[in-house]
Amino acid sequence: MSIEIVQEHPSVELSRIAISETHGENSPYFAGWKAYDEDPYHELTNPSGVMQMGLAENQVSFDLLEKYLEENSETSSWGKGGSSFRENALFQDYHGLKSFRKAMASFMEKIRGERAKFDPDRIVLTAGATAANELLTFILANPGDALLVPTPYYPGFDRDLRWRTGVNIVPIHCDSSNNFQITVEALESAYRNAESMNTKVKAILITNPSNPLGITIQTSVLESILDFATRKNIHLISDEIYSGSVFSCDEFTSIATVLESRRYKDAERVHIVYSLSKDLGLPGFRVGTIYSYNDKVVTTARRMSSFTLISSQTQQLLASMLSDEKFTDNYIKINRERLRKRYEMIIEGLKNVGIECLKGNAGLFCWMNLSPMMENQTKEGELKIWNSILHEVKLNISPGCSCHCSEPGWFRVCFANMTQQTLEIALKRICDFMNNKDRKDIQS
Ligand SMILES: Cc1ncc(COP(=O)(O)O)c(C=O)c1O
Repeated sequence: MSIEIVQEHPSVELSRIAISETHGENSPYFAGWKAYDEDPYHELTNPSGVMQMGLAENQVSFDLLEKYLEENSETSSWGKGGSSFRENALFQDYHGLKSFRKAMASFMEKIRGERAKFDPDRIVLTAGATAANELLTFILANPGDALLVPTPYYPGFDRDLRWRTGVNIVPIHCDSSNNFQITVEALESAYRNAESMNTKVKAILITNPSNPLGITIQTSVLESILDFATRKNIHLISDEIYSGSVFSCDEFTSIATVLESRRYKDAERVHIVYSLSKDLGLPGFRVGTIYSYNDKVVTTARRMSSFTLISSQTQQLLASMLSDEKFTDNYIKINRERLRKRYEMIIEGLKNVGIECLKGNAGLFCWMNLSPMMENQTKEGELKIWNSILHEVKLNISPGCSCHCSEPGWFRVCFANMTQQTLEIALKRICDFMNNKDRKDIQS
């Protein structure tokens, strides 16, 4: 902080929420980001710096977005006469622009291979999926209640679902014995766990495709999760923020498709979260949605979205872009192909040095297994290796424990937030580390 102000003691009090530890930032996930921020890799100015492989960002298709903007420059300018400037400057309706909601609904259908329909009037706009998940938690649960969330999960959930809402996360433990699929037994066990703590379960929150696993949830598993939610009379939130990053559209079933095949039976307990942060690579635009099949949730979420609206300028630009079908068809196809190629490149590179990953079919990351390299199969053993990779190899990857993985030795490695050349250098660093490690092991 450039202006230092003397902090008096005892300091003035802050609220219970402000001082609570449920912000989730005291995790190696954020510690890794800090290490990167302090010494960021740059090919020319800092070639020995830390490479950021802990950020699920998609930069592989920026050229397509930039080309669209170049060819359609009117979408990002105010046009002649200034009328559109005035409309934009004054627009503050929490329903959002109808043209944008329509374009968003049709984009969400395209990503799902047109196997699900979305009604623009059920789309609630929010500032990213972060706001959407928190908003839904506020609507579905009271402080002290619980959401069941399969592990490993996105570390940000510890903040988004808990901090301001006062809601708890109860883990549904998944492990490598069945490729981290969610089972009814694991659901039952998590539910019983919550009950034993006298906590009321209000919803299950799944991420499909999964972050950090990079896999889609099978249709039969989705069916059983929905049946379970129905049996317990609780809600089901499906965070489908990575649906456009499935390498082949046929390998993804949205909960929306399951509901359509059931003619919307039990639909009023289902809510989908989506955002353009991953599929279009626009986290800075802060564009998210809640799509709910429950009228009351739609109305309440819309009211509550007043706190997290999307700027009308952003809505207008994206309404034009997403309603251009030639552009979206091409973008979705090429983006998927590029992500798959990147995935294959990293998997192959890691395999060549003896590292195996979970077989993925989606996402901006792979789920890497370093347990064979660990002396101790514990969280401490995992953090020891993570520390070496962060400070010696200078790669920021996320340890499984930051995603609450119950099995030590797994790491999330992001591959889409850098150029292919940078990824090649990262792989070279891992290769050198593995070779040196072998030498060290032989010597010791
Ligand atoms: C599963 C999941 N949900 C939500 C988010 C937050 O996304 P947004 O940038 O749209 O707020 C992320 C970001 O990494 C994520 O992985």
